[in-house]
Amino acid sequence: MKFKYILGIETSCDETSAAIITENQVLSNIISSQMVHLQFGGVVPELASRAHLKKIIPIVNSAMNDAGVGFDQISGIAVTNGPGLVGALLVGVNYVKGISLGLRIPFIGVNHIEGHIYGNFLEGNEIPFPFLALVVSGGHTLIVLVKAHLDYKILGGTRDDAVGEAFDKVAKLLNLPYPGGPEIDKRAQQGDPRYADFPRAMLKNRDFDLSYSGLKTAVLNFIREKGEQEVAKRMNDICSSFQTAAVEVLVKKSVAAARTYQVRDIVLAGGVAANSLLRKWMKEEAANFNLNVHFPPLQYCTDNAAMIARAGLERFRHGEQSSLELNAYPAMRLGEVIRD
Ligand code: KG4
Ligand code: ZN
Repeated sequence: MKFKYILGIETSCDETSAAIITENQVLSNIISSQMVHLQFGGVVPELASRAHLKKIIPIVNSAMNDAGVGFDQISGIAVTNGPGLVGALLVGVNYVKGISLGLRIPFIGVNHIEGHIYGNFLEGNEIPFPFLALVVSGGHTLIVLVKAHLDYKILGGTRDDAVGEAFDKVAKLLNLPYPGGPEIDKRAQQGDPRYADFPRAMLKNRDFDLSYSGLKTAVLNFIREKGEQEVAKRMNDICSSFQTAAVEVLVKKSVAAARTYQVRDIVLAGGVAANSLLRKWMKEEAANFNLNVHFPPLQYCTDNAAMIARAGLERFRHGEQSSLELNAYPAMRLGEVIRD
């Protein structure tokens, strides 16, 4: 069976997104970020589910309109069914079951982390296997060996906080708006990375695990020690020093893993892959060892449905399809296959 136009749907957290793709093109990729959480400084699960419910139909309709494609042309639908907030995931999953049943279109559940990796394969981009993927987002920090399409070996990951979570929490400590990653990135570009010497956790360990809770606490203690005035004055320098500590470990561990497993290509995925220092430093460090670095355009780093559609396309090609029993799995792991 040929899968030409794929509709992708993403509702795992606070972005409602729908996209239409072909193998080589993203015809539309509509993303609606929920603003309702801003006043709380983080995502409120119940509010997220309600906002997805309100948005899902108009968002899918505008994705179809933008692409100029009708439902009769859609050959498959891909929907994120984990990991994420269970109520948020269920909105996407149940909506897709409904249209699949009504319009007789096959559908497939996609792992959100797998989606982030496949953000690198959009618009006909190919990456030679095997490669190393660094998945860095608000919920995940993983170093993964991708042996072939859909074939993963997890080499390491965070033992506590995700790196994106550390960016967001440090931003909150500094009274910067949510999500903190982009704000810290922006300020860090004007700051002095040597202002504060924050810890590089587990840098010396020979494994590929990481830890970010200690770095967050170090920033908290530093802020308390310096006091409000000094912190306000040196805000950009604190951002830069924190970002440098967070990124150095990601860069050094990824390159070490690529060398250990003798792969030539490193792929960045997830929201933190948008970070300007990570992109630059990883390229520089990798070049010292003749390794190539790939990362998606910014719009495919943070949550979006095009990446889900691309991962779904690959699963359809491998003969997979979900049934109406498909459920949402908030703690789904990468590579875990739940055949419903
Ligand atoms: O992939 P994503 O949209 O959602 C999850 O799957 O978690 O990632 C969101 C995370 C947030 O923590 C956000 O602060 C972070 O990605 N982020 C960044 C940047 N842009 C987004 N972190 C650092 N620098 C950035 N430029
Ligand atoms: Zn994500």
